[in-house]
Amino acid sequence: MKIMVLNGPNLGRLDIRDSSIYGKMDFAQLSAMITTEGQRLGFVTDIRQTNSESEMIEWLHEAADSAVPVIINPAAFTHYSYAIRDAADMLKAPLIEVHLSNTMAREEFRHTSVISGVASGTIAGFGPASYTLALSALSGLLKK
Ligand code: DQA
Repeated sequence: MKIMVLNGPNLGRLDIRDSSIYGKMDFAQLSAMITTEGQRLGFVTDIRQTNSESEMIEWLHEAADSAVPVIINPAAFTHYSYAIRDAADMLKAPLIEVHLSNTMAREEFRHTSVISGVASGTIAGFGPASYTLALSALSGLLKK
């Protein structure tokens, strides 16, 4: 089954960002890990990253139109983008929100997610494993 793994702004530069928060893996390595774990669970993972809010919205429309499940790390959009929330709310298949860092243990502005309310669930704080946990959660949800 095809799934989309959508990543928001600055996640393409993980190797440049603060490694004490985001770890040492670069985006290519993270993508390879997601692809491998996805394959193990029977998923074909379409992994994308954008710094553009409008592109993220268009990808969510594409996922909604094709009823494809989505794992999303909306990055900073998490905290304020009602437009992405509204697009995510149109999805027909499960949506799982992921974060590498534990956003609740960071600055107060990161404690709010405008996306969580339209997601099946949220996984945060486990570094790259947040994505593999999300793949496993998605697999469980789709078997229900
Ligand atoms: C993030 C957390 C966000 O607060 C931040 O803006 C990001 C990454 C994470 O994966 O931990 O860019 O979504």
